[in-house]
Amino acid sequence: MVVLAVAVFVMLSSCAVGCLGNKNSTELKLWSMENQSMALQLAAVLKEMERLKCEQTTLQQQQNALTQVYITSHQKRAQKEVAGTNILTYGSNDEEEDNLPFSEEDSRKRGDPCFHYTVLDQAWRATNTTTKNKMCDRNFKWKGWYRLFYNGKSLQMPEKCVPVNKCGTQSPLWLAGPHPKRREGIVTRRVCGHWKKNCCAFRSTPIQVKKCRGNYYVYKFTEPSSCYLAYCADINTLVCGRCRRNQSCVSRDKINWRCKGKKRMSSKKIHFFASYPGQLKGKVNRVKYSKVLVNVGRAFDRRTGVFKAPVKGVYQFFFSTQTANTGLKTDLWLVVNGYWAAVSHTHISRPSTVGSLSTYMTFLHRGAVVYVTHNCGSSWANAASMTITFGGSLLAQWK
Ligand SMILES: *[C@@H]1O[C@H](CO)[C@@H](O)[C@H](O)[C@H]1NC(C)=O
Ligand SMILES: *[C@@H]1O[C@H](CO)[C@@H](O)[C@H](O)[C@H]1NC(C)=O
Ligand SMILES: *[C@@H]1O[C@H](CO)[C@@H](O)[C@H](O)[C@H]1NC(C)=O
Repeated sequence: MVVLAVAVFVMLSSCAVGCLGNKNSTELKLWSMENQSMALQLAAVLKEMERLKCEQTTLQQQQNALTQVYITSHQKRAQKEVAGTNILTYGSNDEEEDNLPFSEEDSRKRGDPCFHYTVLDQAWRATNTTTKNKMCDRNFKWKGWYRLFYNGKSLQMPEKCVPVNKCGTQSPLWLAGPHPKRREGIVTRRVCGHWKKNCCAFRSTPIQVKKCRGNYYVYKFTEPSSCYLAYCADINTLVCGRCRRNQSCVSRDKINWRCKGKKRMSSKKIHFFASYPGQLKGKVNRVKYSKVLVNVGRAFDRRTGVFKAPVKGVYQFFFSTQTANTGLKTDLWLVVNGYWAAVSHTHISRPSTVGSLSTYMTFLHRGAVVYVTHNCGSSWANAASMTITFGGSLLAQWK
């Protein structure tokens, strides 16, 4: 308050110097009311202060919003750099679901190993084969990515120690770590070779692994540390190749695998539409849209004016107003989790009326809070006009 008052007087003095002689300046008129009563002058000063405050907060919020955007894009870029070839461009996407926001075609184009791999269909690699042959993957020129098959059926590396002399070799190589989830992209995993009762007697060269849509994995095999070591194909995971798209292959003991239905994308319906049936002036921290016309899913609270996301997903919001005050800025902000996300800004210089509609679409976690704040100016509505409104819908739910 003190700071603002100082700002006003600085403006006053700078204007008194800069605008002297310009009798038409509104600023000058405002401050040269010597012949009016003190109370009137004070009222004028207060009004001007409010106006400046509004302007200042608006600018500050805009700046904050921009900073936020900048930080977010920065983080995204950093994430992308860390992920390397992993094509995860969608900020908050961290799920396994199939409706990823980029198409398979895009992935193909970008050289995704899920579509650019060599088929490795060698029955001797199966964990249930005991062979006198000793194969050594060190003698193989590995290049790029591979997908394991057993007689044309997709399978994956064992995640558990394999008895010696299986997989067509002496020391079978198994993945010393869990297969990644889709959202993890490409990961590096240790590889162990079992020998003489030591499940990790050979710490072989680590490999890269990626989970692909359709329940299969691709591996970037490299030459193992020594002979006779060979990469295994876990025969128990043949079942995984038969899992449907909406299923995942799971195992508790890493021996018995089964297809498990992913949690259904429940068709949760969230829609709300509410209006404020009166006029708003100046700062109204949370507009209490008391007239609720639609509230499917009951996520909007008419008493508080707050919408609380009941599930994780992509939401779309809109908020509208009607302003008619000459020379006054009117700003309504959509506040998402305490962040000022989108503004509806009007500034009418001539006697007129303007309606304003703003929209915003975003990803929200469960429990996210969204409301509208009337930051400054004045908005008009009556019980029937539906001019000051707030609404939204869940567009797509994330598991
Ligand atoms: C104040 O002064 C202006 C000219 O400076 C004059 O036009 C106006 O009528 C005065 N108002 C009052 C209330 O005396
Ligand atoms: C290994 O398992 C596969 C699939 O169950 C089977 O067809 C094959 O005969 C088995 N091989 C041996 C040597 O047991
Ligand atoms: C999975 O998809 C199949 C069709 O491919 C469908 O019949 C089944 O109900 C789905 N299961 C779940 C859990 O969504």
